[in-house]
Amino acid sequence: MSSAYGPGKAILFGEHAVVYGRPAIAVPIGKVRACATVNPGTPGAGLVMSALDLGRIYGLADASVDDSLRAITLNTLAFLGIRLPLDLVVEVTSTIPVACGLGSGTAVSTAIVRALAAHFGVTLPNTAVSSLVYEVEKIHHGRPSGIDNTVVTYEQPVYFVKGQPIETLRVAKPFQLVIGDTGVCSPTRVAVNDVCLAWQCDPAGYEGLFDKIGAVADQARRAIESGAVDLLGGWMDENHCLLQHLDVSSPELDRLVWAAKQAGAAGAKLSGAGRGGNMIALATADSTAAVESALWAAGARGVIVTEVR
Ligand code: PMV
Repeated sequence: MSSAYGPGKAILFGEHAVVYGRPAIAVPIGKVRACATVNPGTPGAGLVMSALDLGRIYGLADASVDDSLRAITLNTLAFLGIRLPLDLVVEVTSTIPVACGLGSGTAVSTAIVRALAAHFGVTLPNTAVSSLVYEVEKIHHGRPSGIDNTVVTYEQPVYFVKGQPIETLRVAKPFQLVIGDTGVCSPTRVAVNDVCLAWQCDPAGYEGLFDKIGAVADQARRAIESGAVDLLGGWMDENHCLLQHLDVSSPELDRLVWAAKQAGAAGAKLSGAGRGGNMIALATADSTAAVESALWAAGARGVIVTEVR
């Protein structure tokens, strides 16, 4: 038996603009994770996927070509040079809410790649894991920037620019995030597509917004690396406002952001593709409990408190 996991993730700054070449910052969220376990299967049964959290057990031979669990399994086996047919059971479990910007699909793919590699006695470098996961991200996202697979695979805070070598971030002073889930499922592909259509209608206006978001990500990077945590809240507020201009916020997200701020959060913004999913708030030791209660009271379906370090 071989097991591996992939952590959740949150985008702190720069979502959407990152698809258009601007920088973004993301951190792993280790409190939630996906796990994959590979076991020998019944002879002749072929490759079986057991995703009990999703209520599904199925043979990969019967899965459609756009099934991402099938794709990551077959791509990884091909990469490892393993020939089919093969009798294996790949079991997947996850505590990451699905389709809400916390990287559930990415974490599942990462866990499967690593568990399969371990089963065949191979330790893959992060670059290889990340590229395998990226290929499957295309099924979820359409035109992913690559930030999700990078932060989940490397499991470190990253400053990410599409197409450039990965840069991990040194967090000079740890800070607390309170993450609130709207409970509204929001497929990344839809929000990314809508931004693309709007950009096509008004390229100059959208490029201007992306520039501003990229500048915020750069300022935030300096604050994180210099330990100026007190500046981060303002940059989160600014980023949320720019995301509202991109039309990717929602009444539910705005309500949670507002509630967190009223309860003393230093800043708050949506995180990920938006339209639903999660928001993040920056809290201090003094304000964390109040922000958490305020999010529940404002209708959050889940709240995670985590430290970024
Ligand atoms: O999958 P999500 O919800 O975390 O969104 C990914 C971030 C986007 O910038 C919206 C898309 C991308 O590929 O970078």
